[in-house]
Amino acid sequence: MQTVVITGGTDGLGKGLALHYLRQGARVLAVGSTPAKGEALLAEATALSAGDRATFLRADLTSVTAAQELVTEVEGTCSSVDKLILCAQRYRLFGTRTVTHEGFEHSFALAYLSRYVLSHGLRATLESAPRPVIMNVGTPGIPLGRIHWDDLQLTRRYNGTKATLQSFRANDLLGVAFAAVHTNTPIRYIGYNPGVVATGMTDHLPQPLRALTKASFTLFATSVAKAVTPVSHLLDEPPGEPFTAYRTTRQLALKGTAFDKDAALRLHRLTQDLLLRQRS
Ligand SMILES: NC(=O)c1ccc[n+]([C@@H]2O[C@H](COP(=O)([O-])OP(=O)(O)OC[C@H]3O[C@@H](n4cnc5c(N)ncnc54)[C@H](OP(=O)(O)O)[C@@H]3O)[C@@H](O)[C@H]2O)c1
Repeated sequence: MQTVVITGGTDGLGKGLALHYLRQGARVLAVGSTPAKGEALLAEATALSAGDRATFLRADLTSVTAAQELVTEVEGTCSSVDKLILCAQRYRLFGTRTVTHEGFEHSFALAYLSRYVLSHGLRATLESAPRPVIMNVGTPGIPLGRIHWDDLQLTRRYNGTKATLQSFRANDLLGVAFAAVHTNTPIRYIGYNPGVVATGMTDHLPQPLRALTKASFTLFATSVAKAVTPVSHLLDEPPGEPFTAYRTTRQLALKGTAFDKDAALRLHRLTQDLLLRQRS
């Protein structure tokens, strides 16, 4: 039986994938921070007669410690993991800068650091599976945002959109660095942009942007049910290359600053240092 771990597996695209893999007969571990959403997923799993294969893991992934504890918990309960799907995200496009209790800027912590910790931390458990895949769901192929090398935590001239876009670009580089650092791994790392999908993502936006985005979702967005199909095809038949990036069904050329190997390794080393300092 395949084991699928999904962060953000209790809502939106992640939940769609959780239910898809439960229907396919897999064991699914869905991670989220809200117990009520976890309970709702488990109720849907039971309705599919898959309650015994579904687990909700509560974790606030803005915390590095929580992400590390999640690694330990998954390692302790699963002898192997076939698919790790990284969807946990909460856009904070406006408002003031928020710092986690560990001292990291919110978007950097949730959208990037947790994915770094889980990708590298679960490597050995993934490598025990016959055809392991990590999918990092974000926005590869969108030429917006950059890494603020001199101020990764955006202490100066903060703005939420800048922070969100930096986390996206950091995830592009995470995939590049993962493949560059683990040269002999059988894990296939995929950076994936689902396009515009009608999820509850908009619920956390301030008005009037929430109403506008919801209205545009009604007109232009793909439903979660439709968006799951190309994602699951890619997860089930991953490409041969160690790292690839896709925007819906289109494979992206790995060129430009978004996929620069030197920048990826630089960010990898900086992140290692940040995590070491956080532990000590
Ligand atoms: N929807 C789109 O149009 C779109 C477009 C491009 C890229 N994407 C990417 O696709 C991925 C999924 O997006 P989505 O639209 O499906 O999002 P969503 O519906 O808002 O779901 C987000 C998920 O992340 C979890 N989450 C949020 N904060 C968390 C925290 N602190 N700790 C643990 N889990 C947390 C949420 O659970 P809780 O609320 O319980 O914490 C929920 O399960 C994201 O990476 C997003 O960037 C989406």
